[in-house]
Amino acid sequence: MYTVIALAYLVSACLFILGLKRLQSPVTARRGNQMAALGMLVAVIATLFLYEILTPVEMIAATVVGGGIGAVLARRVEMTSMPELVAVFNGFGGLASALVASAEVARYFSETPAAAEAVTGGAPPLAPLTLTLAVTVAASVLIGTVTFSGSFVAFAKLKGLVSGQPAQFLGMRALTVLLLLGVAAAIGLILYGAYVFAEDSAFLMGGLLGLGGLALILGIFLVIPIGGADMPVVVALLNSYSGLAAAATGFVLDNIVLIISGTLVGVSGLMLTRIMCDAMNRSLWNVLLGGFGGADDDDGPDVEGTTGGTVRETSPADTAILLTYAEQVVIIPGYGMAVAQAQHQVHELAEVLEARGVTVKYGIHPVAGRMPGHMNVLLAEANVSYDQLYEMDEINPEFPNTDVSLVIGANDVVNPAARTKKGSPIYGMPILDADASDTVVVLKRSLRPGYSGVENDLFYNDNTRMLFGDAKESVGELTTEVKALG
Ligand code: TAP
Repeated sequence: MYTVIALAYLVSACLFILGLKRLQSPVTARRGNQMAALGMLVAVIATLFLYEILTPVEMIAATVVGGGIGAVLARRVEMTSMPELVAVFNGFGGLASALVASAEVARYFSETPAAAEAVTGGAPPLAPLTLTLAVTVAASVLIGTVTFSGSFVAFAKLKGLVSGQPAQFLGMRALTVLLLLGVAAAIGLILYGAYVFAEDSAFLMGGLLGLGGLALILGIFLVIPIGGADMPVVVALLNSYSGLAAAATGFVLDNIVLIISGTLVGVSGLMLTRIMCDAMNRSLWNVLLGGFGGADDDDGPDVEGTTGGTVRETSPADTAILLTYAEQVVIIPGYGMAVAQAQHQVHELAEVLEARGVTVKYGIHPVAGRMPGHMNVLLAEANVSYDQLYEMDEINPEFPNTDVSLVIGANDVVNPAARTKKGSPIYGMPILDADASDTVVVLKRSLRPGYSGVENDLFYNDNTRMLFGDAKESVGELTTEVKALG
């Protein structure tokens, strides 16, 4: 039996790694996701057989119910709400790791080996209570519980249930330091309990309960000061934490597949956090200390800018003429395209232009939108061909040969202040050089800044035209006008 389980674990670990590898490209990502999901199914079923916790009928029922809930959630959730869903998944993952690790310690004290065998029907024996085990349990409870409460604060901020503004109150930093001291004391109690009073559960269980309670508050304190707009980075970091908590629980249970999958999640989450910070030219520390972004995006349009320059407004009819006479058009989608759900209209416009012999390319900035791959996913949903999507480094040399850059709901990712204005919060962030093209047409509702809160000088350039309005409506009108040109 154990050999079959070990083989199943090996298969699922291979599926996780191959799945992750396939996530590197949009072309193979769907298959990668399916492989990783299959790997998880194999791991769950193998574990249920190993511990003989459920009867086969119960296993099927649980899989159908759990899988059904997951399928409904995945189908219903809007693309723009994906970070919320991931935050909830991370939160429950962290909680599950903390509870399972604590339950293993409780099992140690509450059951004799014979009783344990009777309950679990021959599950692997309990590991001896060593200092190493106590350290891994403490790590799992601390990281798992911080992930749980932190993820739910992130969820509430993203959902708008609590204000997206960075929240700080007097004495908050001092309280956080006190909490950290309390956490250190609770860990000390756990280690002391495991080392000195291995026969008596009071110290260890008391320490674990204390650690769980403090970690719950710590998670809230760590995330609440961070602005709502930085939440996707926080969610990626919490994702990494949930993986580390799972890996720690894997050590507690001596379960190899949990160690492997937890480590993969932990490391990939950390790498993703790093990539997001680099693409925004911000340090992780700067994100964690909060105070950047946080502006609510739906305050409504406000056509007044604050830089005092003049902008040149254009109309769908004039833009349509510009587009039809162009040889090459580069479409630069951003967060506004996601808000307006304009991706299908954008694809239709591109097709109409291509039918007239215009070359259409899409320039994709790595942090356009609000989550990694946001634009790729939306455009894939609208059946835009992958080979029309160009990453920043590929498309930037093409702008000087581009007749029209159509900026659709993007702002920060084309802001020249990132190149020129030392001291600007986005200075140094790599951007799409749309301003190098002959004409830039920006589709947005107002002159309001984007996520970073920084004014965009691009709007005031001589070669820029502003087409104000909701992106979906504006693109629809553009398509109608291009078609009307015959
Ligand atoms: P932003 O700079 O946030 O600008 C989006 C623009 O969309 C806004 O200025 C807004 O202007 C416009 N907009 C909103 N709703 C619209 C609608 N219905 N129709 C037309 N326009 C609409 O977006 P971006 O250029 O994609 O840059 C992304 C920003 O998010 C970067 O600063 C990045 O660092 C940050 N960020 C990204 C991520 C990831 S991983 N993608 C994670 C965290 C933070 P109006 O209000 O005037 O319409």
